[in-house]
Amino acid sequence: MNVTAPVLAVRDLRKRFAETRALDGVSFEVRPHEVVGLIGENGAGKSTLLKALVGLIQPDSGSIEMRGVPVKMRGIAQAGAAGIGMVFQEQSLIPNLTVAENIFLGAEGGAVVGGVYRWRELNRRAQAQLDKIGSRISPTALTEDLSFADRQMVEVAKVLATEERTNAEPVVLLDEPTSVLDRDETEVLFAQIERLRSQASVVFVSHRLDEVLRVCDRVYVLRNGETVAECTPGEVDEATLRRLMIGRDLEGSHYAEEEQVPAREEVLLSVSGLTVRGVCDKVDFDLHEGEVLGIAGVQGSGREELCRSIFGALGIRDGRITLEGRRLRPRSPRAVIASGFGFVPAERRKEGMVASMSVAENITLPHIDAVCAGPVLMRGRERTLAEEWIERLRIRTPGPNAALGSLSGGNQQKAVLARWMVSDSLRLLILDHPTRGLDVGAKGEVYRLIRELAASGVSVLLMADSLEELIAMSHRVLVMKDGKVSGMVDAPTDAKPAPLEILERMV
Ligand SMILES: Nc1ncnc2c1ncn2[C@@H]1O[C@H](COP(=O)(O)OP(=O)(O)OP(=O)(O)O)[C@@H](O)[C@H]1O
Ligand SMILES: [Mg+2]
Repeated sequence: MNVTAPVLAVRDLRKRFAETRALDGVSFEVRPHEVVGLIGENGAGKSTLLKALVGLIQPDSGSIEMRGVPVKMRGIAQAGAAGIGMVFQEQSLIPNLTVAENIFLGAEGGAVVGGVYRWRELNRRAQAQLDKIGSRISPTALTEDLSFADRQMVEVAKVLATEERTNAEPVVLLDEPTSVLDRDETEVLFAQIERLRSQASVVFVSHRLDEVLRVCDRVYVLRNGETVAECTPGEVDEATLRRLMIGRDLEGSHYAEEEQVPAREEVLLSVSGLTVRGVCDKVDFDLHEGEVLGIAGVQGSGREELCRSIFGALGIRDGRITLEGRRLRPRSPRAVIASGFGFVPAERRKEGMVASMSVAENITLPHIDAVCAGPVLMRGRERTLAEEWIERLRIRTPGPNAALGSLSGGNQQKAVLARWMVSDSLRLLILDHPTRGLDVGAKGEVYRLIRELAASGVSVLLMADSLEELIAMSHRVLVMKDGKVSGMVDAPTDAKPAPLEILERMV
């Protein structure tokens, strides 16, 4: 029996946003030195719960106790002083500050004397935090120059820095910290969580159930804003967690392998000698109609830049791209969209959506033709199209007219995906980690949609969250290393390569 008093106890927390019951009776506890998992479908209320714990939103009812004392959190600063900090799903760093400034923002302590920064002191202390997570990021780097994954690491360092300020052991809330990290970075974070455990408690939100089972001591399952189960990893498996999350069994194979149709003979896109200054060097490949071509490579291998340059978002220095035999010069995204290209970026918040616009508008945004009759926007058509996709992807929203920014992270992503899948004139879809942050059900739905698109002749360039996903979904896998193609591996349904075969060419 565990008799240790909890550091954090939440009882019957409730929060409504207009008609949405985001939290509908959440209760949970975190004990000292525990890593507690929090799982649930997109929109289940995970982020809302964590935000309530750091005072970013005020619950309507229920109680929060820290070390046995009832608290009302009024904001991040107060929560930080009480020893509870959060790493956000949507990042909170300020782009034009340095890494060190971001880590100690509002908590500079001895590093500010009379309003003047003592840079060396600040950087030294930031370095100490970064060292803790084994990060090689420089404290003096400008945050906006960092990759998404690196910024995530800075967020983690920032929360760890609360240790410096409280005498009590902190509670660290991590909202999907691994969804943007690659394998090595994830391992570093896990090692860090293990280390943290001796001096803090951790709440870990993730859609990767294998990770949750691996790092957590206990797991709470949230459904429709309610805690519906508490599990111990040794006693449950992924399938059980999945069932508890969605309240039903998932039918069929996750990756819908049986629905993979072979690619066609015809070449849609032919790339030769493609060179992007400093990042891609003489890349050659053909992409067939209806083919899903996976692109593997570690961060910095040039795979993102390759895709961006084909989409016209990055200047090409040399090389030739042909679309159905005709020379294509991807000068701007606008121009290639007109040729039937679509792109789902990994950083959907930054470039994939307009948060203030409605779900319906975001879905139909690049397809004005489909909803316009002459200059008149057909609201009715827009609405029908949006409703159809909200249903297909199970986007959890009060309706098509709700602002996209008010949806949960995963549901925003579904809307951005729907946007491109809606188009009738789509020829080539570039997907940069399309299932990142999606729950298991939504992931399966996206896999099915990719299969459907490919079967209808649309070609797909896919960068995926895991090698397993990449191999399962692709017809072939192109491997990039140091800006060059280091391999092209066939991956037909009946003879999928082993991950190692691809990994070997990546590093
Ligand atoms: N500021 C807000 N205004 C209106 N509705 C909101 C707001 N914040 C959250 N919601 C709604 O509350 C519900 C829970 O959202 P929350 O972000 O907590 O989900 P989540 O479990 O974190 O999902 P995900 O896995 O997609 O991140 C969703 O239906 C969401 O649309
Ligand atoms: Mg969330």
